[in-house]
Amino acid sequence: MASHPPSVIDAICDYALTVAADIPWYSEPLTRGRGQAYLLQHIPRNRLLSSVMRPAWMSRCPDLAVVRKTIGQMREELVFDDHIAQPHTSILWQMGRNIGLTDEQMNSVKPVPLVEVAFSVWEHIARTRHWIAGWLATSVDEFILTSLPKHNFQATAWKQAFGLTDEQVFFFTYHTKADDEHAGRRVWEPIARHLTNEKEQQEVLDGMKLAMTALCLFYQGICELGDQLDKNGR
Ligand SMILES: [Fe+2]
Repeated sequence: MASHPPSVIDAICDYALTVAADIPWYSEPLTRGRGQAYLLQHIPRNRLLSSVMRPAWMSRCPDLAVVRKTIGQMREELVFDDHIAQPHTSILWQMGRNIGLTDEQMNSVKPVPLVEVAFSVWEHIARTRHWIAGWLATSVDEFILTSLPKHNFQATAWKQAFGLTDEQVFFFTYHTKADDEHAGRRVWEPIARHLTNEKEQQEVLDGMKLAMTALCLFYQGICELGDQLDKNGR
């Protein structure tokens, strides 16, 4: 390994983790408001990821194995995950109830402005940039959440902030495992095979950097909403 120059996947992973280190939502103490805000804003993101963005870049993806795997993931998210005999949306809503959100709030949630900007950027990448940039835009957060040593997607943070039991934070423990199969060096391996020239490599890196800027806005929107919720004493 050491004798090879850094690969495009190294560049992607390094960039993602460098930016992630400065995203406050991941590392600042998880308050009740920031937890609720994350869960609420993740609801439309999750829906958009699997019903809009992934189909958009997959429509240009020539790699059947990647398409198949991604469709499998979309099925687990929105339709049925065989391991837990329900879709992830069910455990997401249950997680929301466990932190004091109502079904009405979750069913009617709208993205806050910064989150909506992030959605627009990701959708633009998925529809118009290199398909690999789309793939990265829809999986880089999963990579970050399985690679950062300590962050607020981990179950412990939620147990502390909301006084929950192991059972009540199943959504997070389960996802830390599931995400590992959805993104990261091993999963992204086909990227190196498909990026055969420098121009395309640059396109993908540019698209990925834009996706990371949008991720910063996504979490900034969540922090602002969360701090507002905390101020209003929710
Ligand atoms: Fe999921």
